[in-house]
Amino acid sequence: MADRKATLTVDGLDNPVELPVYSGTLGPDVVDVRGLGAEGLFTYDPGFMATSSCQSAITYIDGAKGVLLHRGYPIEQLAKESNFVEMCYLLLFGELPDDAQYADIEKRISNHTMVHDQINNFFKGFRRDAHPMSILCGVVGGLAAFYHDHMDITKAEDREISAIRLIAKMPTIAAMSYKYNIGQPFNYPRNDLNYAENFLYMMFSNPCEEYKTNPVFAKAMDRIFMLHADHEQNASTSTVRLAGSTGANPFACISAGIAALWGPAHGGANEAVLNMLDEIGDDSEENIQRFVDKAKDKDDPFRLMGFGHRVYRNFDPRAKVMKETCDEVLAELGMADDPQLKIAKRLEQIALEDEYFIERKLYPNVDFYSGIILKAMGIPTNMFTVIFAVSRTIGWISHWHEMITGDYKIGRPRQLYIGHPQRDYPAK
Ligand code: CMC
Repeated sequence: MADRKATLTVDGLDNPVELPVYSGTLGPDVVDVRGLGAEGLFTYDPGFMATSSCQSAITYIDGAKGVLLHRGYPIEQLAKESNFVEMCYLLLFGELPDDAQYADIEKRISNHTMVHDQINNFFKGFRRDAHPMSILCGVVGGLAAFYHDHMDITKAEDREISAIRLIAKMPTIAAMSYKYNIGQPFNYPRNDLNYAENFLYMMFSNPCEEYKTNPVFAKAMDRIFMLHADHEQNASTSTVRLAGSTGANPFACISAGIAALWGPAHGGANEAVLNMLDEIGDDSEENIQRFVDKAKDKDDPFRLMGFGHRVYRNFDPRAKVMKETCDEVLAELGMADDPQLKIAKRLEQIALEDEYFIERKLYPNVDFYSGIILKAMGIPTNMFTVIFAVSRTIGWISHWHEMITGDYKIGRPRQLYIGHPQRDYPAK
């Protein structure tokens, strides 16, 4: 695989070290530094700014050009032509399904949407005001207790059924966490509805009124699921891989991914966007500018949530599609004049014109728009990251599956130790 070499000269080492250089199908070449350990050297890359932790054939991102491909297909085309269930098949199995394969996966997902009745009891252990992400972490990890018979990760059948169970049950558990929070009875899933419609039904239906699907909302929900489905080795996916590298079961691994997603620098950003819009409050020009100035001030921790991305130094391609969906939903609801949305639009405009943001290539990211859409559809802020987790489950499980079926080692980074050298315990 290596047709080139890098040579590293280190002060104090007798000879230069030769390191193989590999090329992928797309993207930067990588220098294989594994041989450095034998020379008594480690690489140092906190935050993984230039480290490839694995080989993967699932997703490719070119941050400078704003490109996102899943199994080679551009996200813009998938968002327009495909749907979330088809994308699940594509991410997990590597190719788009034919009609029979599509019908099969749709049926299999539908057949697993219900959770074991005992799961209902888990919820009662939480306070009603528990953050739904904490419920999700706990309940998804707890699923492992229900499937002992299918937990052999060396068996293809067990891996596949676990993947299907996770994709199928996440919307159910997510909607249950919401219903529990607001004190309404849980809704059983409806398998005559599609993935997005069923999720909205479980969230918003109640026994007292007939529930009607709004097709604009269902389409927007499906888009949100698709656009968050995978994003190569992001923090939560890397967490899932790291947990999976120990041989932990897939439910535990996905629960670890949910925990990593929760942070405001990652999946928590869509919730943070709405909290920021609340904090800004007044939609006057001076007030909005005051917050933009705060975001630019090095001594102020305030950042514009929903702007910037570690990988994209260009418009996030998902944000472009999300912006279109956002406009559709707002038009459907006649909400174009909502004060919070006006603040959001003005922030977007300022950030796209302001030198500070242009110089640092800080564009609105996917979560800037998804937060606005979800709010407009009546989804409470604390459910935003939960919805991200529902979507990202397919990405997490596809990466877990790719790792388990390939060559992998337990993930075990090393460190630059800066603590005390050895010292003696003081005599008493
Ligand atoms: N507002 C103001 N300044 C910012 C922002 C922001 N949102 N993001 C980055 N900067 C500045 C930062 O201060 C730094 O300035 P300087 O070079 O003068 O020191 C420069 O831009 C580079 O930032 P960085 O912190 O080195 O960038 P990073 O790659 O480490 O961080 C990020 C990426 C997403 C954590 C960050 O942009 C951020 O905190 N954004 C807000 C939170 C957010 O929206 N996160 C969602 C990401 S998309 C969803 C996902 O994929 O999980």
